[in-house]
Amino acid sequence: MSNRQPVKGRFISIEGTEGVGKSTNIAFVKKRIEAAGIELILTREPGGTALAEQIRELILSPREEQMAVDTELLLVFAARAQHINRVIAPALAKGIWVLSDRFTDATYAYQGYGRGIDLERISQLEDFVQQGLRPDLTILLDAPVAIGLARASARGELDRIEQEKHSFFEKVRAGYQQQMKKEPQRFAQVDASQNLRDVERQVAAILTSKLGL
Ligand code: TMP
Repeated sequence: MSNRQPVKGRFISIEGTEGVGKSTNIAFVKKRIEAAGIELILTREPGGTALAEQIRELILSPREEQMAVDTELLLVFAARAQHINRVIAPALAKGIWVLSDRFTDATYAYQGYGRGIDLERISQLEDFVQQGLRPDLTILLDAPVAIGLARASARGELDRIEQEKHSFFEKVRAGYQQQMKKEPQRFAQVDASQNLRDVERQVAAILTSKLGL
C-alpha cells in the first residue's frame, strides 16, 4: 500500500543517447514552462539529491573492478528511490511540476537493451520503486549515435558508460524506439540532428500540443 499523496503537478522527462543536446533543450523547456507562470523544479537521474548524486558517482566513475550489470541496475534504482521519495513525489504532491533529465526509460534503454538485462526484471523493479509513478510526457531527443558520441568526446573525459563501444549506443538508441512504441501517447520524439532553431521549434510544438503551453 502506498501512503504517497495524490499527484497534482506534471512530470516531464527528457531522454536520448549521449550528446544529443539534452542540456540545451532542457533549458529551453524550463524557460517555456516558467514563462507560463508554472512553478517547476529541474532535476536529473541518476542523481537529484545529495545521496543519489553519490550513487551517480558510483555508477559513472571508471574503476578497475568491473561492475556487474545487476549491480548497475540496482544502483540506478536505489538512486531513483531516493530521488522519488525526497524530491519528485513531494513536489508533485504540492502541484509543482518536475522536469527530469532522464528517468526510467533510460534504464530500459541502457540496462535493458544496452546491457541485455531481461526487461521483465526491470519492470518488476519499476513497479516496486515507483508504485505507479510514471512521467506524463517524455521528450525523446533522437540523433545518429556518431553525432552524439563526437559531441560527448569533445566535452572532455568520458565517464564509465560513455566509454562503451559505438554498438552499445546503437542498441540504446533502438531501445528508446522500442520504449516509444510501447507507449506512443506518452512520448514525443524530436529529430535532434537538425540545427538548434529547428530543434527548438519541434520542442515548442510538443509543449503546445501535449501541455497546452
Ligand atoms: P547524462 O548526465 O549524460 O545523462 O549521464 C547519465 C548516464 O547514466 C548516461 O550514460 C545514461 C546512464 N543511465 C543509465 O544507464 N541508466 C539510467 O537509468 C539512467 C537514468 C542513466
